[in-house]
Amino acid sequence: MNAQRTQVAIIGAGPAGLLLGQLLHREGIDSVVLEATSRAHVESRVRAGVLEHQSVDILQAAGVGARMRREGLLHHGIELRFQGSRHRIDFGALTGKSVMIYGQHEVVKDLIAARVQAALPLLFEIRDVQLSGLESSAPRVQFRAEGQTHALECDFVAGCDGFHGICRSYLPASGVKLFERVYPFAWLGILAAAPPASQELVYALHEHGFALLSMRSPTLSRLYLQCAPDEDLDGWPDERVWEELQVRLATRDGFSLTTGPIQQKSVTAMRSFVVEPMQWGRLFLAGDAAHIVPPTGAKGMNLALADVHVLARALVSHFRYGSDDLLRRYSEQCLHRIWKVQRFSWWMTALLHRFDTDNDFDRRRQTAELEYLASSPAAQQSLAENYVGPPLE
Ligand code: APR
Ligand code: PHB
Repeated sequence: MNAQRTQVAIIGAGPAGLLLGQLLHREGIDSVVLEATSRAHVESRVRAGVLEHQSVDILQAAGVGARMRREGLLHHGIELRFQGSRHRIDFGALTGKSVMIYGQHEVVKDLIAARVQAALPLLFEIRDVQLSGLESSAPRVQFRAEGQTHALECDFVAGCDGFHGICRSYLPASGVKLFERVYPFAWLGILAAAPPASQELVYALHEHGFALLSMRSPTLSRLYLQCAPDEDLDGWPDERVWEELQVRLATRDGFSLTTGPIQQKSVTAMRSFVVEPMQWGRLFLAGDAAHIVPPTGAKGMNLALADVHVLARALVSHFRYGSDDLLRRYSEQCLHRIWKVQRFSWWMTALLHRFDTDNDFDRRRQTAELEYLASSPAAQQSLAENYVGPPLE
């Protein structure tokens, strides 16, 4: 068996794991990042694409913001569309802040490039991760790579291995509480080589359900449709996807979608999930390993980045000053933000989707809420301040 030592073993090379490695490196703390899949896989996986203003600041301060600043699209508002009319929510006027459109896999590419450039350990296609000694001061990570078993001795383990990872299972069932809501619908998402038909994101509610027009660049559109959780993509040839998007996004003033070749099509489940606490012994969970939000508020990646921002500061405090106060408060501090964001993501989801259980009262109430948002600066302020992101504490 090959044995190595590091200060922080990071499981998972998504935005959470990679940013944590980068933040620690800048503070002189060493880490090893272990990823189950390949570099090509994590660099091409199309996921979220909206960065809150402080996520932009975190990436910039971590020294990985140059390409994002060049290629990202700064957005100062979004549009809400219902009953054929458009209503702009002006983030600039309401909050003085903006968001950045920049794909999650671009963030991942930038973080991997920085890690490779600094020649820091990042292992892909590793198997069978097992953790031990989490309640001691010397945890151990065992894994397989290239047919051999390896052991990594460390001071801390960061569980950044996403919702389907293994780290969460090391929290003792009797010591944690899980919170979950599964929604009775999913999103059918496409990535298309077509110039976006709107300069800003459009969130639409139609009789048929939710639709979202988003983008990745001036030539790439990203669009979504509310669909059944078990929707069969075979029933959605490209023409049907475009037709349905056009129906749900139509306006009385004649909005027309720009179409183009569909490069990718997938169905994303919708779930709200939180585990409390996010820590056990020397294991700290961050990102999707600890919580999931439905994508309506575009918060998943932002929460992951906010968690590791807090975790990195706590680890620096431990290694540099010998103080564990911030580590002790890690879970509580993150959960405060997470529940704020859970509420917002649930609210945006409820506002903009058709539920099977809706009765006439629910429909009228939903329309009244959209009309209130369209007409009330106070209601818009609440949406805007949550969308651009609550401040980091
Ligand atoms: N061992 C090593 N790596 C693992 C294991 C394992 N047992 N299980 C999962 N992984 C890897 C996955 O392959 C993935 O690359 O952990 C990584 C987790 O990354 P993400 O799922 O991107 O999670 P996170 O970094 O928390 O980022 C959250 O991802 O799902 C989106 O909407 C979500 O935008 C949010 C973001
Ligand atoms: C995306 O571009 O993928 C996206 C944008 C906004 C959302 C969700 C996803 O709310």
